[in-house]
Amino acid sequence: MCGIIGLVSQNYFKSNDVIKMLKRLEYRGYDSFGIVTNSGLFEKKVGEVTSVTDNKCTQAIAHTRWATTGEVTKENAHPHSSCDGRIFIVHNGIINNYVELKEGLVAKGHIFRSETDSEVIAHFFEEELKTKPMPGAVERFFRVASGEFAVIIMIKGDSKLYAMKRGSPLSLGMLEDGNVISSDIYAFSGKTDKAVFFHEDEFAVVNEKGYEFYRFDGTSLEPVKKEITEVKWSSNEEGKKYDHYMIKEIYEQPEALERLYHSLKNGQKESAEKLKALMKSSKRIVFVASGTSYHATLLGVYFLNKSGVEAHTIIASEFRNFYLVDKDTLIIAVSQSGETMDVIEALHGMKARGAKIASLVNVPYSTIQRMSNVSVNIEAGQEICVAATKSFVNQVACLHYIASMFNGAEIADLPGDVRKVLSQENNIRDLAKSLVKSRDIYIIGRGFLYPVAREIALKLKEISYIHAEGMMGGELKHGTLALIEKGTPVIALINGRSEIVSNVMEVKARGGRIIAISNSGMAGELIRIDSDDEVSFSTAATVAGQLLTYYIAKEKNLPIDKPRNLSKTITVK
Ligand code: AGP
Repeated sequence: MCGIIGLVSQNYFKSNDVIKMLKRLEYRGYDSFGIVTNSGLFEKKVGEVTSVTDNKCTQAIAHTRWATTGEVTKENAHPHSSCDGRIFIVHNGIINNYVELKEGLVAKGHIFRSETDSEVIAHFFEEELKTKPMPGAVERFFRVASGEFAVIIMIKGDSKLYAMKRGSPLSLGMLEDGNVISSDIYAFSGKTDKAVFFHEDEFAVVNEKGYEFYRFDGTSLEPVKKEITEVKWSSNEEGKKYDHYMIKEIYEQPEALERLYHSLKNGQKESAEKLKALMKSSKRIVFVASGTSYHATLLGVYFLNKSGVEAHTIIASEFRNFYLVDKDTLIIAVSQSGETMDVIEALHGMKARGAKIASLVNVPYSTIQRMSNVSVNIEAGQEICVAATKSFVNQVACLHYIASMFNGAEIADLPGDVRKVLSQENNIRDLAKSLVKSRDIYIIGRGFLYPVAREIALKLKEISYIHAEGMMGGELKHGTLALIEKGTPVIALINGRSEIVSNVMEVKARGGRIIAISNSGMAGELIRIDSDDEVSFSTAATVAGQLLTYYIAKEKNLPIDKPRNLSKTITVK
């Protein structure tokens, strides 16, 4: 993961201007950060991105880290530099063969200061540039380095920045007085709407007045003409009125749902129809997704099956073990970020087998969207908190809408039902307070509420640091019931008088504490859902779980928007 940025300008800018842009990439990692400028500032710190020493410069590169190789220390923070202190690099991705490369460089006398794979890049270029100019060194890097990388290189006394991409995303934004290279367009949104996206194995030489792109064809770098994309996307982190982005994003859900429905009926009507046509003409429909997005696809499969459309879902990191893919297969990737490496890997593999690719993403111009034959935007708007909230609800609503295009099912008032849950905030906050000391929480649901149980459990784990298990109610008696003791909290998702009631009884008989998220008049602690419509119930129940999680974490004083060890966009395998 990690976020990287490089800025080169005709005019002086402040080091903290770059830091402000870097801050927007923090959702990619926030273990440590660093910056180097062409007027002598070289600063690294452990922790979230904060301001650095004021420094005026015309060139800078910076990095925010999510640790993969090497612990979270100042030494392991980027930028990394060569032995002679002339070459600085920032890197997102992973160099798989760094041990081998490092051994070769150490044998030549290079001294490494960090435990990272990334540092090898600085020493590699120092060594190569002794005997050849930059393009030759880059060619050799593309030839020998294995893994994924988006790299920006700055060399002392050189007015250009050098950038290359394999696997990890990289884009270039054209400013009035310079150019900015960054992991994604968030970093420069609001500053320019003109962007160029790096494709696989591309290398760019960028200065304050322009840029040149080259593609590595396996042997050498060949110049390529790049298309300028006009990007219409704005970051909405400004205007924050809430204590945390998580609660802000939870409250944005009714509006985000309204925006999605409007767009599916208007601006995105054609894309939705195109997707439906592709689904109809395919022999097999398979979803691929990770984490929360995978939970949304479980619901998508449920709704499609109910509409008479056969579909399956495979978790992205296991997709390579799914063999039934051919040219008549449609793969639908579902991803908030559109950059999740497990999903991208799966798509590459399936594309090679001739499958068609469709996607549902939240971030426009993302890699997954650009890889797709057809893509629908879920219109949740920028989501900053690491925990997915509004993106899940909009993914589910979007998948349900697509399913309803096959059977003409009516769409219930999702925004209204979500608002009704939000109005129970005080009750949910009180419940949360009573759960703060819980070691384990179980969430049970059947049918369409099983994915919701899994989603609530994931939220509880990542944000409130409570061990939680979301499971099918009917499975409880097959083993997990052994863990229910007096007072063990079990959240039961109850839509009407369904079979789940007998599972609730099994828990109660063992002294377990039932918290119902329900539309039935069951006694006990209750978060009320005012609908029995399946899509409405599933989204409203999820929102109840999000609020509960938020208030448990708040009560525990946890870093809600940036939970430990996590990152919003997982760009490693
Ligand atoms: C959600 O709360 C998680 N942070 C995580 O599981 C996430 O959903 C997963 O990494 C997939 O991300 P994507 O939707 O951007 O592909």
